[in-house]
Amino acid sequence: MADQKGKTILTGVKPTGAPHIGNYVGAIRPALRLAASHEKSYLFIADYHALNAVYDPKALKEDSYQVAACWLALGLDPAKTILYRQSDIPEIPELVTILSAVTPKGLMDRSHAYKAAKDRNAEENRDPDADVNMGLYTYPLLMAADILIANTDIVPVGKDQVQHIEFARDMAGYFNGAFKKNVLKLPEYQLEAGGAVLPGIDGRKMSKSYGNHIPVFIDSAARRKLIMKTVTDSKLPAEPKNPDENVIFQIYAHVGTPEEVQAMREAFEKGGMGYGDAKQKLFEALERNFEQPTAKYNELMTDRKKLDDILEEGAARARKVTRQTLSNVREAIGLRRIPE
Ligand code: ADP
Ligand code: TRP
Repeated sequence: MADQKGKTILTGVKPTGAPHIGNYVGAIRPALRLAASHEKSYLFIADYHALNAVYDPKALKEDSYQVAACWLALGLDPAKTILYRQSDIPEIPELVTILSAVTPKGLMDRSHAYKAAKDRNAEENRDPDADVNMGLYTYPLLMAADILIANTDIVPVGKDQVQHIEFARDMAGYFNGAFKKNVLKLPEYQLEAGGAVLPGIDGRKMSKSYGNHIPVFIDSAARRKLIMKTVTDSKLPAEPKNPDENVIFQIYAHVGTPEEVQAMREAFEKGGMGYGDAKQKLFEALERNFEQPTAKYNELMTDRKKLDDILEEGAARARKVTRQTLSNVREAIGLRRIPE
């Protein structure tokens, strides 16, 4: 990844509650590693995006703090990665207004999120636009503004978000073409290395919606209890077992050290590794990974002032860039630059 060193990487996170260890292994940890390996990195809380579906001021506020505390507790260094709330950057909605003037309506009509909402309505014999607000319809515009305003080179995404980055490129191209000036940088997406999908304690994919998840931030007793409840088959300790078919090992594989993981794999294959033993080892590895972050998370969640300070400082740093981009955009259009 050395050739990416000088590039700017940006990630937006919707505030949707506390993470589980599947989110950590599959999304948070890789994003932290990517941020650390790039010269400039931005991570922001996409609270305006959440607004499309959350009309609950307390929940929005609380969930936003949770996201900030979560990433900080898990190792985000705010001196390096600029952490901010989307809603603290007024240049973003201004760029949305401007981009909407050069973006064909048809592009929004093709948005996967909007199409999915229409398909659901069709299945239920409802009006195609039932429950579709303009925020959902123009979701890609806001997301493009998030990305373009920060002069982003790379956006790490899951497959479901690829279209959004392609749209952001399209919109940058429409703008540059309309005003015959290369003002907005065309971003690229980087597909997150997929593969690591953690099972939950019932063996299905770990997911909040199945209620089979192990939260990252819980106390040791609760953590132990969840691990002890994890499903196993009835093989005896002495019997050889296939590690790739058991949930304990599949989780351990992502939280143990490489040596520990190899040792457990061999012990399962050879026989002699019982599930009780394996659960204890998994518990210890999870403690090692998450005990301190949990303490830090709890500490941050009781110190809102500190979180506010970090987010405000992040916004101030981000705005050095976003004001510059917006000034260039305004100038290209024939509007006044933002006064210094
Ligand atoms: P949930 O299914 O618990 O609601 P989300 O759909 O909100 O989780 O996923 C948030 C992020 O975490 C996504 O990037 C997703 O790929 C990742 N993720 C979710 N569940 C898992 C899992 N079981 N294993 C690995 N990554 C996961
Ligand atoms: N749409 C993203 C999601 O649902 C969140 C997001 C908003 C985002 N703006 C962004 C991600 C800009 C990357 C870049 O996960």
